[in-house]
Amino acid sequence: MTGSFGPSGSSLDPSILAAAVAVLRRGGLLGLPTETVYGLAADATDPRAVAAIYAAKQRPRFNPLIAHVADRASAEREGLFGPAAHRLAEAFWPGPLTLVVPMAPGGTVCDLARAGLASVGLRVPAPADTRAILAAFGRPVAAPSANRSGALSPTTAIDVRAELGSRVDLVVDGGPSLVGIESTIVACLGAGARLLRPGGIARADIETVLGHPLDHETLDLGGPLLSPGLLPSHYAPRALVRRDADQVGPGEALLTFGGRRLPGGAAAVTLDLSPSGDLVEAATNLFGMLRSLDASGASMIAVAPVPEHGLGEAINDRLKRAAAPR
Ligand code: TXA
Ligand code: MG
Repeated sequence: MTGSFGPSGSSLDPSILAAAVAVLRRGGLLGLPTETVYGLAADATDPRAVAAIYAAKQRPRFNPLIAHVADRASAEREGLFGPAAHRLAEAFWPGPLTLVVPMAPGGTVCDLARAGLASVGLRVPAPADTRAILAAFGRPVAAPSANRSGALSPTTAIDVRAELGSRVDLVVDGGPSLVGIESTIVACLGAGARLLRPGGIARADIETVLGHPLDHETLDLGGPLLSPGLLPSHYAPRALVRRDADQVGPGEALLTFGGRRLPGGAAAVTLDLSPSGDLVEAATNLFGMLRSLDASGASMIAVAPVPEHGLGEAINDRLKRAAAPR
């Protein structure tokens, strides 16, 4: 980047940077690349801009949004960081971790973006170009994934256009999202730290930094929704999804893992999340491959088992939601 502000390492075209900031300043909607998935971004301090996000996504109002900021100093103006939150921010920002902390006095993220909660979800995304936009804008930016509510999260600029079309004023093309699955969300509100959503940073890596296990908020699909936004049916392609498949039915598409072949005749289309069995690669490919199999026209996507360790926890969480009754 050529300006005097913002993170080094950004090579964003100054005219794109200016256009992106102008969209945010006038309360518009911006397709914002991040390392996890593309966000549908708007000024988090402006309730009218935030309302436009909910409207474009057709999202239930009770779902709080993540506020994206350029750096830790900006995050600490918006939220109160205790020792655990401090340690996690230091270890994982910029990166695919969202911290839910008490809102700071003088915090600027509006009520609507927080869904009326006294806490705020904060994240410093990894791409230098994205942080350059946030730094130049100078305010927190609310950004849920840039898809219609309940649909697959977009991992390319083209996906954003396909999902939202003219509802978004400008899409910044940052290339494919490298992590490919949403951020891990950890709440640091009292003593401990609770996992609210598994995501791009594995539980074990967070627990290593904390020095103790995370408290686990229930993600039971049938259970009560302790965290707003954890809807049972989410991340759903048009086709039905069948998990832990040990065979393929006629006409089914197959999403496999680690080169595994399933008996039961040839699948209409087969994609492998990671032929070498690498869960990081599998996370990167998850949403794009579900989209491709959906586009193949199959009415059922059979999914081979994915191990639960590392990023497998987040992958299986998304697959469970994609397979949940609608
Ligand atoms: O990777 C990501 O996190 C992506 C990219 C664009 O940054 N964003 C994303 O945002 O996944 P979204 O809106 O789809 O997820 C927001 C979730 C909510 O559903 C809720 O579970 C949690 O974050 N959340 C946000 N603020 C919260 C709060 N104050 N209390 C509890 N949960 C909160
Ligand atoms: Mg989403």
